Amino acid sequence: MTTVPTTKIFKENLFTGKVLLCSGGGSGICRAMTEAMVQHGATAVIFSRSKDKLEKAAKEMALKTGGEVFPVAGDVRNPKDVERVVEIAVEKYGRLDYLINGAAGNFLAAFDHLSYNAFKTVIEIDLLGTFNLTKAAAPHLKKSKGAIINVSATLHYTGTPFQQHAGAAKAAIDALTKHWAVELGPHGVRVNGIAPGPIKDTVGMEKLGPAFEHSVVPLQRMGDVQDVAQSTVFLFSEGASYITGIVLVVDGMSIFIMFCSGDH
Ligand code: HXC
Repeated sequence: MTTVPTTKIFKENLFTGKVLLCSGGGSGICRAMTEAMVQHGATAVIFSRSKDKLEKAAKEMALKTGGEVFPVAGDVRNPKDVERVVEIAVEKYGRLDYLINGAAGNFLAAFDHLSYNAFKTVIEIDLLGTFNLTKAAAPHLKKSKGAIINVSATLHYTGTPFQQHAGAAKAAIDALTKHWAVELGPHGVRVNGIAPGPIKDTVGMEKLGPAFEHSVVPLQRMGDVQDVAQSTVFLFSEGASYITGIVLVVDGMSIFIMFCSGDH
């Protein structure tokens, strides 16, 4: 069995003076991604809908790392909100270097039970949210010659049951990663994706966990948020300066064996 990575792999001051904006940074995988960046010297702005959750997460992360984490509440689906968070980040810290598109919504729902609005809601949060925030942030990322990480998933690799809404959104996000790598590359902006497999102790696994109970993981352990966090540090670091347009799969090569009957 492999061990979960520690936070001492990279140089501590790797991102000193750099500013990160992370949607969904108040919880789960994206919180760990943010915390790892702050632990390596970055200042972070975290953005999602729940003001209380964000403020608590920002305080806890700042206390733990000794760095600065600033919470801004808003909805990635709303262009006005995304423009506002980018404006706040740049006004407050003078620059924007890194963007993580992590805000997502999900639930298990079979095709017959998925309403028009349910499908649209997840597409809007995951896919449109990723587009919106990137559109607002891109001018500043071009200025700093920064980098983007889009968080997707592995659901669409095999057509996971009860996950068509999220799978469709994540497949499109992977496509955006490649399109943006092509269009933003000439401006010095690298764009990569991370596709986490099932990661323990996250909202996603709380919601979807029962369906993944029978997954097979060759590496013999569930994914940990640190697995994704350390991959984030690598992809944003200079060590990855010739890497763009990839989707890094962080899943221990999990093979989903989901029940596709039942009443979700
Ligand atoms: C079927 C459902 C549903 C469910 C909601 N809907 N939950 N349909 N099964 N369990 C339907 C509603 O009935 C409604 O349709 C429509 O979806 C919109 O619901 P709202 O509650 O009005 O939307 P909203 O308040 O915007 O909430 C969005 C949400 C919510 C996705 C439903 O759960 C959310 O915001 N979650 C954020 C956190 C989250 O889910 N994180 C997990 C990400 S996990 P009708 O027709 O009734 O109007 C992830 C990892 C994937 O991405 C990879 C794992 C391996």
